[in-house]
Amino acid sequence: MTNHICFIGGGNMAGSLISGLVSNQYPASKITVTDPDQQKLDHLKNLLSINTEIDNLKAVKDSDVIVLAVKPQVLKTVCENIRQVTLKTRPLIISIAAGIRSKDIDRWLGGNNALVRCMPNTPALIQAGATGLFANNCTSSEQKNIADQILSSAGITLWVDKEEQLDAVTAVSGSGPAYFFLFMEAMQKAGKELGLDENTAGLLARQTALGAARMALEGEDDAVTLRSKVTSKGGTTAAAIESFESNNFSGIISQALTAAHDRAVELADELGKN
Ligand SMILES: NC(=O)c1ccc[n+]([C@@H]2O[C@H](COP(=O)([O-])OP(=O)(O)OC[C@H]3O[C@@H](n4cnc5c(N)ncnc54)[C@H](OP(=O)(O)O)[C@@H]3O)[C@@H](O)[C@H]2O)c1
Repeated sequence: MTNHICFIGGGNMAGSLISGLVSNQYPASKITVTDPDQQKLDHLKNLLSINTEIDNLKAVKDSDVIVLAVKPQVLKTVCENIRQVTLKTRPLIISIAAGIRSKDIDRWLGGNNALVRCMPNTPALIQAGATGLFANNCTSSEQKNIADQILSSAGITLWVDKEEQLDAVTAVSGSGPAYFFLFMEAMQKAGKELGLDENTAGLLARQTALGAARMALEGEDDAVTLRSKVTSKGGTTAAAIESFESNNFSGIISQALTAAHDRAVELADELGKN
């Protein structure tokens, strides 16, 4: 039997997951989305032929799976509102809200919920995302498969055994797209300084990022091998890599990811304290 999935919050991330599911032949009649904005709901309905509902309580009544896709700041209110239904119906709860721990969501929902917490990233919007997932002890393997099916409609999925590892996922892939944007931005600036026009330098940087990522993902070689293959001794690439290393490139990356990790822990403490 196909599960009825209810997305609470019809924003960017929900829209992307739903369009991924529908294009993977998940029946649109088994998907409902809620949002306070009727225009947003009408748009999603016209585009994807799914069910829409402005009232969260009505929408969750017949749902086997509820995807919490609202901003972290409103999640507590949403949970406390729907729990009068979910305590009776006991659906699988999937949260994609950044930084809110499963124990806090579970508490807001009254306890003992099957709950999967996910950390997706922005490329999910173009079905090229990377999502880390964690399931609490109440979640069955069948329910984990359902969560995997939903999140994999927007990219790759990787499960972690301990919830703390999601803070590392946040540091690597959650915040990661911005690191690559920063790198491209810096390459564009440097290319311009070296005499290229800005657009040419920018396009070269972006296409190079795409090409390198595709080679790293699609080929057999790991990143170290790929790098050594394009770095001949005494050549131009070697000159650039030596310059990076003399400026402690790996150390800079490590410090930046540690800062992101530590901020994820702080934010989770803050957002889950009530
Ligand atoms: N976008 C990303 O790349 C990304 C990456 C990782 C994690 N996430 C997480 O994914 C979640 C959704 O992000 P998003 O980018 O899709 O945000 P978004 O575009 O702002 O979508 C959230 C939607 O929820 C609606 N909403 C607000 N209160 C609601 C309520 N009580 N009931 C139902 N819907 C309600 C909002 O309406 P209004 O706009 O009218 O308030 C908005 O349409 C967030 O928790 C975020 O942390 C996003």
